[in-house]
Amino acid sequence: MTQAGSRRAAPMEMADPRDPLGLRSDAPLLDAWLRFTAQAEAGLLNPMAVPGHKQRQELTGAVTGGDVPLYGGLDSIKHADVPLGDAEDRAARLWGADWCRFSVAGSTHGNQALALAVGSPGQEVIVTRCLHRSLLLGLVLAGLRPVWVLPERHLSGLPAGVAVGTVRDALASHPEACAVFLGDPSYVAGHAQAAHEAGVPLIVDAAWAAHLGFHPGLPPHAIAAGADGMVTSAHKALPAYTQGALVLARTGLLDPARLDRAFEATHTTSPAGTIAASIDAARALLARDGTELCARLLRLTAAARQRLAAVPGATVLDGPGVEPTKLVVLLAGTGAYGHAVEADLIAAGMPVEMADRDTIIPILTIADDETAVGRFTEVLVAAIERHRGAPRRPVPSPAWTVTPQMALPPREAFFAPNETVGADAAVGRVSAELVAPYPPGVPVLAPGEIITAEALAALRAAHAEGGRIAYAADPTLATFQVITAGR
Ligand SMILES: Cc1ncc(COP(=O)(O)O)c(C=O)c1O
Repeated sequence: MTQAGSRRAAPMEMADPRDPLGLRSDAPLLDAWLRFTAQAEAGLLNPMAVPGHKQRQELTGAVTGGDVPLYGGLDSIKHADVPLGDAEDRAARLWGADWCRFSVAGSTHGNQALALAVGSPGQEVIVTRCLHRSLLLGLVLAGLRPVWVLPERHLSGLPAGVAVGTVRDALASHPEACAVFLGDPSYVAGHAQAAHEAGVPLIVDAAWAAHLGFHPGLPPHAIAAGADGMVTSAHKALPAYTQGALVLARTGLLDPARLDRAFEATHTTSPAGTIAASIDAARALLARDGTELCARLLRLTAAARQRLAAVPGATVLDGPGVEPTKLVVLLAGTGAYGHAVEADLIAAGMPVEMADRDTIIPILTIADDETAVGRFTEVLVAAIERHRGAPRRPVPSPAWTVTPQMALPPREAFFAPNETVGADAAVGRVSAELVAPYPPGVPVLAPGEIITAEALAALRAAHAEGGRIAYAADPTLATFQVITAGR
């Protein structure tokens, strides 16, 4: 149990082991989930409705344990929107938003919902080229034409945010643009002002940043900084079920009815109540203990940063503009390769969120404690030492280095006739597909972009070093899908 939990346990009451921190009194969906599963465990349910496992485990076993639908589980099919709305209102209040929806399909769905909530097909939007592939597909769905803006770079070559001036210039040269989409969730107040001066909403992909704004040592979250829309994965920075995400908006420049339509357009009609209840629980935890838990996270990250920065040759990203709970370890100066270090960490039961040739990025969250982070840091240091070699020049991921050359808007390219050609013959042709090293999942090639020799070489290098090439029809990169010649 966390310090927060033990401090708050009622003196004479036994804590409920299924809700050890006593969150249910402020979490309607969690409360409903606890009631439903207690009934199921007591054998009091005999549902003649989905899910097809019927809360029994004789057939597929424990894998469906705890799976409760929102509709017909957390409440009746006709009434479940009421507790859902209550939980979403509580989240909206916590983030200072006017509108909030819980998604059971990740920030992927949230990004697509927000893309569908602005403008109309054919309109331009200003978009960071460091966008996640989910937003790119959102642009395809919505038929929006991106005006790409490129981020600044840290000295390490890794991307920083897009400069406010870059957004301003793009808005000035594209006065018809109907929104700005950014991916770096920290420090967006200036961008919000620039967007608002142009009369358009700022939308921020804060997939990794659900904890921002809950401690004075953290940057404010995007809504507090003035953004109009924000998506965040509750399953990334917060202790929620995989796929849980929140889509939050301030209305004014965004229309709540349109937001609802856009959200529903691609959300399942059978949301997992378990995921929704875990978002509700994570929100209740953040509301009550967020400051304390974020303080611990800040302490743990600072200690890990200090320990790792003391490893000869290693650099840990730091300084102005770096979100203080981010731990980005640069390995080139140690001679160790990221993929080899990652393999050791996996073998030790400590998988990290991202590893490429020169970088290791573990994700620390409010669920981590001193023991977990201390053990991880020592195993990482030992792995670096085991693989130490001659220092080398870092080679940033192609996701950060390639300058896109758009020949067609993504939607047109997505639906255009296409053909498969060998990689060398693909140079100079227009890509029909999205190709991204994953992680980070940032496209090197988007549908409609010219396959340059530079992009091909960078992708080949990432692949040769052991990186996974995602979403390409041919992940070996021997062939590419290109728009049919002469179309
Ligand atoms: C920046 C960014 N946005 C959106 C997503 C999609 O999030 P989810 O996995 O919750 O669908 C990711 C996933 O890693 C991401 O990195």
